[in-house]
Amino acid sequence: MKFGRRLPKQPFTSLQSPVMESDIRDPDLAESGAVRMEWDARQMPVLHSIKDRFARERPFRDLRVAVCLHISTKTANLVTAIKSGGAEPVVCASNPLSTQDDVAASLAVHHGVPVFAKRGEDPDTFNRHLHNVLESNPDILLDDGADLVTTAHRDHRRQLDRIIGGTEETTTGVNRLRSMVRNGDLTIPVIAVNDSKTKHLFDNRFGTGQSALDGILRATNTLIAGKTVVVCGYGWCGRGVASRVRGLGGQVIVTEVDSIPALEAAMEGFRVLPIDEAAALGDLFITVTGNRGVIRRDHLEVMKDGAMLANAGHFDVEIDVQALDALAIEKRSLRPNVEEYALANGRRLHLLGEGRLVNLVAGEGHPAAVMDLSFANQALAVEHLVARHEDMPPGLYTLPDEVDREIAGLKLESMGLAIDALTPEQQDYLDSWR
Ligand code: ADE
Repeated sequence: MKFGRRLPKQPFTSLQSPVMESDIRDPDLAESGAVRMEWDARQMPVLHSIKDRFARERPFRDLRVAVCLHISTKTANLVTAIKSGGAEPVVCASNPLSTQDDVAASLAVHHGVPVFAKRGEDPDTFNRHLHNVLESNPDILLDDGADLVTTAHRDHRRQLDRIIGGTEETTTGVNRLRSMVRNGDLTIPVIAVNDSKTKHLFDNRFGTGQSALDGILRATNTLIAGKTVVVCGYGWCGRGVASRVRGLGGQVIVTEVDSIPALEAAMEGFRVLPIDEAAALGDLFITVTGNRGVIRRDHLEVMKDGAMLANAGHFDVEIDVQALDALAIEKRSLRPNVEEYALANGRRLHLLGEGRLVNLVAGEGHPAAVMDLSFANQALAVEHLVARHEDMPPGLYTLPDEVDREIAGLKLESMGLAIDALTPEQQDYLDSWR
């Protein structure tokens, strides 16, 4: 059985909407964006080799791809790779505070990509930009957090009919899509890029592990050594953060709701406590759970004077900022991305990056070398959708294992690393139950 809209054979002219005007902060920033993109491109050899192949094979000729990602140097390299394959990308931000305005400018000015994103845009503008992108009549949705897919299902049913499928970057987005599947609401196939091994084992762990600390250090210039650092959540991101904090000499406390990762954290040598107990002990709190209300009013009330609060989960719902506002008798900005809240109990708490993704708000997100893997997955996921969408009923998919291994192999090669192959005797041994 064949599913969804069939893409016509060549020549394909799906682009029914006129080229759109961008809505960016300042086109004059384009030069700075371009050199920073070039710097990061050098750390993205896997994506680069895919881009070269796309340029030869043009698998996305005349397809419009709606992209909702953090607009960073790395994302821009993904966007130009997809464009090299013949696509017409249209871009908006997946977070109002993570956009790098110079990168948005370079994409629009140098690459002719319509971009709808301004760092610090208000919630109405952020939403309008999502709609701008969906109104371009995309064929494919490339998402980070599932805002495009959910908005299309809610407000753009007409556009949804022509969409052949989507891809999703992050754990939170995949969770939202799973909920849509459970409720029978998802009407397109979506590839969960986050579920590739070469995504979550590297980006979530080594990417978030490093970039969350990088954001915190850029914001505060604080010393981690000797501090008690409470890491809320021990998924792949939490594992990365806890390990990097330990590397810097911090004493880690892990909080969890799932017995298995909690046990793993304990055997990894971390102290495991409920947040109710950890709240009074931490000097620095880092939330990476993907859930809401992790640090609540009760916890804020017992925290030490000077405690710092940072979030590295996708949405700004993990720390109850409203409760913090309600508790504060005075609030002031001490440094960029450091807000001091003076409480009635005489203590001061410090919220970093407004409780939004600290790595992208106070830093530049993950290093390009790890986003190379994530975005190789995104690029190949788009190619997979174009080639296979007719055999993909609505639902969530993972890229085939061969694709995962190919990406890992290319990365190893780019690092100058070789691995062994099984000897025939070893293969026979593995294949035989005797
Ligand atoms: N840079 C671009 N996209 C990113 C992401 N999803 N996480 C961290 N850094 C990024």
